[in-house]
Amino acid sequence: MPPDFLWGAATASYQIEGAPNEEGRGESIWDRFSATPGKVKNGDTGAVACDHYHRYIEDVALMARLGLHAYRFSIAWPRILPEGTGTPNQAGLDFYSHLVDELLAAGIQPFATLYHWDLPQILQDRHGGWLGRDTAEAFAAYAEVVVRTLGDRVKDWITLNEPLCSSWLGHGIGIHAPGFRDPALAMRAAHNLLLGHGFAAPILRDNCRGARVGISLNLNPTHPATESPADQAAARHADLLANRLFLDPLYRGAYPRELLEQFGEHAFGVVDGDMRIVSAPLDFLGINYYTRSFRRADPAGLDPTGEEARIEGVDRTEMDWEIYPDGLHEMLSRVHREYHPSALYVTESGAAFPDVLTESGAVHDERRRAYLESHFAAAQRLVAEGVPLRGYFVWSLLDNFEWAEGYGKRFGLVYVNYPSQRRVVKDSGRWYADFIAAS
Ligand code: FCB
Repeated sequence: MPPDFLWGAATASYQIEGAPNEEGRGESIWDRFSATPGKVKNGDTGAVACDHYHRYIEDVALMARLGLHAYRFSIAWPRILPEGTGTPNQAGLDFYSHLVDELLAAGIQPFATLYHWDLPQILQDRHGGWLGRDTAEAFAAYAEVVVRTLGDRVKDWITLNEPLCSSWLGHGIGIHAPGFRDPALAMRAAHNLLLGHGFAAPILRDNCRGARVGISLNLNPTHPATESPADQAAARHADLLANRLFLDPLYRGAYPRELLEQFGEHAFGVVDGDMRIVSAPLDFLGINYYTRSFRRADPAGLDPTGEEARIEGVDRTEMDWEIYPDGLHEMLSRVHREYHPSALYVTESGAAFPDVLTESGAVHDERRRAYLESHFAAAQRLVAEGVPLRGYFVWSLLDNFEWAEGYGKRFGLVYVNYPSQRRVVKDSGRWYADFIAAS
């Protein structure tokens, strides 16, 4: 890899911080959602998580031990603006300011994500959250407060994490907060998320000298289960939703025609001038990659994206996701070829496995190590082919609150023993540290 290639790890505020009621933090839609019976496995919530709010100094020391070049974290909007807009909460700003100082002192480059799903609940109540344009405007105001505090030290900004999850999982199928089930609402949310991104980008640039602004999309190849024309059509349509719903507006200034036809143009709520705001040039694109999807035609003929076909005889993670490193190569080369982002980062990639802490205090997670190695090889291949991939963030630094899956799924390079909050570097984490040191 080129000498300035960044090897890092990623986390997100709601998944690790805990301390939901401390020092003036307001309620988020994930506090509300996870407290609603039946929404998250085992009734788990982010109320304690990894207690990172109190342990961030120890956690940065861990990152330094691993030799990370960069750390991608997210900022909890309700810590900064408990009312969603208006007067900032100084204690919330201080927390991230101290975190950034610790990182810089350890020689670790901070990548800050402004929105990794923890919307202030009050904006949900007041404007319908991302169903309202007001939330896009509030997001820009929030971005301004944050960049004015951190912009002297943080240069790498990610506006949104995986807007597909916020829109589709949150509004289309209801498995994430705020829990709506209406595909047309998901399109409205998608557009307002993109609008928020578009409003925030110039504000980040104006308030931060040398800012590099990007967005993180989760992308995955959608392959047909068989060569039948019906399955191929399903795979093509699934690609529109999985990948092109965000890539096209960001890089081509338009939603895919087929999606506008499927949901009706009014569903998106596009107003004159919006697409120009949404498609303003970015400094980099972050891609989160986990697996691929196999589609076969919907037997009832209702859903043009078909249904997921589970293929047998492949290796899977604890999430039941197929381990498919070639998909990382496929997706990034395609994005490079078709959308030409000036720089790319893998802003998340990783795997959950059923880790066991041995009596001697070790975690022998050979499968995660192999997962990382095979995906890093795909990244190396991309760089060798001239794809402008500049860095790679493993998901995740720590085991954490895996959204609707609760604490059952462990993605960390570092094991978290939740009752004691003790951190134990897994074998994969040790391997990663050696790998970085040798690179
Ligand atoms: C991604 C999320 C991240 C984490 C991983 C496993 O979709 O961005 O927060 O939950 O999946």
